[in-house]
This record gives sequence, structure tokens and C-alpha cells, in this order.
Amino acid sequence: APVKVTKICCIGAGYVGGPTCAVIALKCPDITVTIVDLNKARVDAWNSEDFDLPIYEPGLEDVVRQCRGRNLFFSTDVDKGILEADLIFVSVNTPTKKSGVGAGFAADLNYVELATRRIAAIATSSKIVVEKSTVPCRTAESMRTILEANSKPGCRFDILSNPEFLAEGTAITDLFSPDRVLIGSLQTKEGKEACQSLKDVYGHWVPTDRILTVGLWSSELSKLAANAMLAQRISSINALSAICEATGANIDEVANAVGKDSRVGPKFLRASVGFGGSCFQKDILNLVYLSESLHLPEVAAYWRQVVDMNEYQKRRFSKRVVDTLFNTITGKKIAVLGFAFKADTGDTRESAAITLIKNFQAERALVTIYDPQVLQSQIWSDLMEASPGVPLETIKRQVSIANSALEACRDAEAIVIATEWKEFRTIDWADVYTRMTKPAFVFDGRLLVDAEKLREIGFKVTVIGRGERL
Ligand code: UDX
Ligand code: UDX
Ligand code: ADP
Repeated sequence: APVKVTKICCIGAGYVGGPTCAVIALKCPDITVTIVDLNKARVDAWNSEDFDLPIYEPGLEDVVRQCRGRNLFFSTDVDKGILEADLIFVSVNTPTKKSGVGAGFAADLNYVELATRRIAAIATSSKIVVEKSTVPCRTAESMRTILEANSKPGCRFDILSNPEFLAEGTAITDLFSPDRVLIGSLQTKEGKEACQSLKDVYGHWVPTDRILTVGLWSSELSKLAANAMLAQRISSINALSAICEATGANIDEVANAVGKDSRVGPKFLRASVGFGGSCFQKDILNLVYLSESLHLPEVAAYWRQVVDMNEYQKRRFSKRVVDTLFNTITGKKIAVLGFAFKADTGDTRESAAITLIKNFQAERALVTIYDPQVLQSQIWSDLMEASPGVPLETIKRQVSIANSALEACRDAEAIVIATEWKEFRTIDWADVYTRMTKPAFVFDGRLLVDAEKLREIGFKVTVIGRGERL
């Protein structure tokens, strides 16, 4: 019969493991949830007295406040967490490989492997091991091989794949009412029982018809497919935004008309300066790598184009800024509003802002950045990573960080909106105008501001997906 889960351990207290397991603790008071991580600073932040959590996510603090110390615990004692649990989520990072075979495409599964080997070495009783890491690519199968080769007598390991579909910025509401929960298992008796155990955990709050149970590999591939299809919509609308700019059509009007077709649907059709985040690019590059490994070059080329289009969109937008500012931005002050990859998160992984700023640096502009959530230390480390070998001192000669949007805009010749933070809509634009060098330019990379209103104030406004109307 299926094991009734009473103790869960989650390895990895990051953007996925943290919120997911905090919500499980909230919804399942009868289950003890321990989230472990090797990174002591991160664990300390989760445990901090004033709830100064390591990630910014609306609603998260409230969940942690309700559960921490009750049935939710954060610890660096990975081994103890493994020993005590009957179900273990593996939710560690899976960055793109930087060197070796598949560099730039394949996922680096080193962290998953280390965590899996630790489970095999430590466990003294049977465990259900659930793969939740962000790049699932035959990962479950590798985990199964490692665990089965290392299990002790009387210890069995059942592997499940349970990809997470939450989006950052809305993680808590996504977890409270997910479109679906996907659980993949081996189609054996034991596999199905393990699947039922995890289903019962989610059953505490997710309606049964939203919990889909499938094969292991279908589950993993579905996660890659969902992210690839979502990213594909953005690249499609961004490709159309280039046509709009060249012809005077308006991408809002086009996206709205297209989205009204119920077969297409209205969501995820917002033209932008390019998608970012830890998932889309990484997952598509994995799909490309997988397709190539399977000798399907046409399939690989099809998906690769989604990423190429995203790179093109960022280049195109940067060029439009330079062209509009009379073909040179050398020595000109440019305020970049927003550094996170989307609103309502402090996460900057693959953020379009990083590429834009790098392009502006190459043109020898002076850049001032403001973001309401991203830590200054994070901005500096991202900019250093984007320009390998360039010392921070050199970067700081061209780039500075402001504490408010108003401060960033002082004496600027142009404002570039890179993230769709709501507060940028409500800044006192008339006040901003008086502080800027004239003519004062605004480049809206997020379809965020009311361009007409800004033009009335005196700004020269350029919006993604709309023809030049200075
Ligand atoms: C994504 C998936 O949505 C989620 O299901 C998966 O689990 C993880 O990857 P996330 O990256 O957190 O989530 O955010 P998402 O809202 O998907 O946005 C990704 C990027 O696309 C952001 O940079 C966002 O600004 C951009 N985007 C999104 C657009 O440019 N236009 C849109 O219409 C939607
Ligand atoms: C299409 C558009 O749907 C319609 O809005 C437009 O006005 C004219 O073009 P049509 O070509 O008549 O209509 O049929 P449609 O149902 O869109 O199918 C087009 C082709 O796609 C068919 O060969 C169909 O078999 C195929 N198709 C459709 C698939 O292979 N898979 C699908 O999921 C849907
Ligand atoms: P994600 O967005 O996938 O959640 P993060 O990088 O935010 O990725 O979180 C992954 C976490 O996993 C990090 O905090 C990292 O320290 C932790 N981690 C990686 N390997 C191990 C391991 N073997 N044991 C415990 N924690 C680990």
C-alpha cells in the first residue's frame, strides 16, 4: 500500500524549493517539512528573526510566519534531514554547463548528482525521492541509476518526477491554485504507489482532477515543452513587434486581436525587450541539446530560433536607443529603470537589463540603474560576470546605482524601462522631466507607460512594437 508521508525533506532552499515546501507545510499541518541547504547564509536568512528572507516573493513571508517552528524548519544539516524523511524533494540548482561536452547548452547535473549520492550514502530506510530541480532532462533516470546502485539491503528508493510550474513574482498564488500538478513515475506497482503517496500530499489542497499522473519521462519532457511553448509565444510576438515598428502598426492592437481567438488565447503575448529568468533560455537550450543528441537537427534548429529571436530583440532595442539619440550615446547619461528579469522579484538571472546595459557600456554611455528589489551587490556581480576580466573599478567609471527612480533620472538624456515594475507607471513624470537634459527621451521596453501622456509633458517617447513617432 502507498506510504503515508509524515516527514518531508527538501534539499535546496532556493526559488523553487523554498516557496514550494513552505506552502506544503502550510497546507499539510500533519506533515513536518524540513528544508536543508549547504549554503549557511541562505539558511540563516530563512531563519532570521525579522523574517528577512533570502528571496523576495509576494505572500511568502506570510506563509513562513505561519509555519516556521510549527511544522516548517530550515537547516544546514542535510544528513539529518535525509535520515528522518520518508519523502525527499531534490530541488538544487541546475545551471547550464560552462565547459566540457554540451557547454552552453546541456544542464550541469553535478549538484543533482551530489545530492542524490548523499541520499544513497546516508539513508537507512526506504525513501521516495522526488526530482523537482529546474532542468529535468532524463534526470530522474540518472538519479534512479545512482540510487539503485548504492542502496543498502532493506532500503528501497522510488523515484518520482514532479516538475514545478510556479512563476516568480506569483509563486505563492501559483502554488495555492496550480493549473496542474504533474507527477511522473515508473509504471510499476511500486512506482504507482509512490506516485499515490505524493498525490495524497498535494491532495490536501489541490483538486484531484488537477493532479496529472504520467510516466517519468513524459513528466520531465512536459516541463521543457511547457516552457519552450511559453517562450515561443514571446519570441513570436516580439518578431511581430519588429514588423510593427517598421510599418506603423501597433503591437498592442495586433496582440489583442490575435489573442481574442480562443484557440490562441490572450495570455503571454506581451511584447517586451526580451524574456529572461532562470528557466526559459536554459530549458530551450536543453531541448536543443536533446534534439541534437537524438539526431533531430531540424527540431533543434526550430527551438534554437526562439532563443536567437530573443537575443535579436535585445540587440534591436539597444540599437534603437542609439539611433534615436542621434547615433551616439558616448558620454551620455542613460537611466535604466528595472534590473530584475520581471516585476515582483529580486531575481536577475538572464535579465534582459544585463544585456542592454552591457550594450550601453560598449557604446561608452554613462548608465545609472534603479531597481526596487535587486540588491546592489547582485547588480555588480551580474555586470562583472557579463564583462569577464574587466575590474569592478573600471565598470564603476561608467555605471552607478541609484536609490530611487527620480535619483536615477537626474540629468539623464534618456530613460530606458527594462522591467515592468508598477511603480514606474506612477512616478511623477512631470517632475522627472524637469530634472532631465533636453530633449528628454523615454524608451519603454515593457509597454508600461502611457506614451501619449508623457508626450504631452514633453518627452520623446519610443515604445517597443510601435512605429517611430517622435
Ligand atoms: C517561467 C514559467 O512561467 C513557469 O511556469 C516555470 O515554472 C518557470 O519559468 P518565470 O521565469 O518565473 O516562470 O516567469 P514568467 O512570468 O514566465 O516570465 C519569464 C520572462 O518572460 C520574463 O522576463 C517576463 O518579463 C517575460 N514575458 C512574460 C514577456 O516578455 N512577455 C509576456 O507576455 C510574458
Ligand atoms: C484557418 C484558420 O483556422 C481560420 O481562422 C482562417 O480564417 C483560415 O485558416 P482552415 O485552414 O480552414 O482555417 O482550418 P484549420 O482548422 O485552422 O486547420 C488548418 C490545418 O491545420 C488543417 O490541415 C488541420 O488539419 C491542421 N491542424 C489544425 C492540425 O494539424 N492540428 C491542430 O491542432 C489544428
Ligand atoms: P532554483 O531556482 O532551482 O530553486 P536556486 O539556486 O535558487 O535554484 O536554489 C538551489 C539551492 O540548492 C541553492 O541554495 C544551493 O545552495 C542548494 N544546493 C545545491 N546543492 C546542494 C546539496 N548537495 N545539498 C544541499 N543543498 C544544495
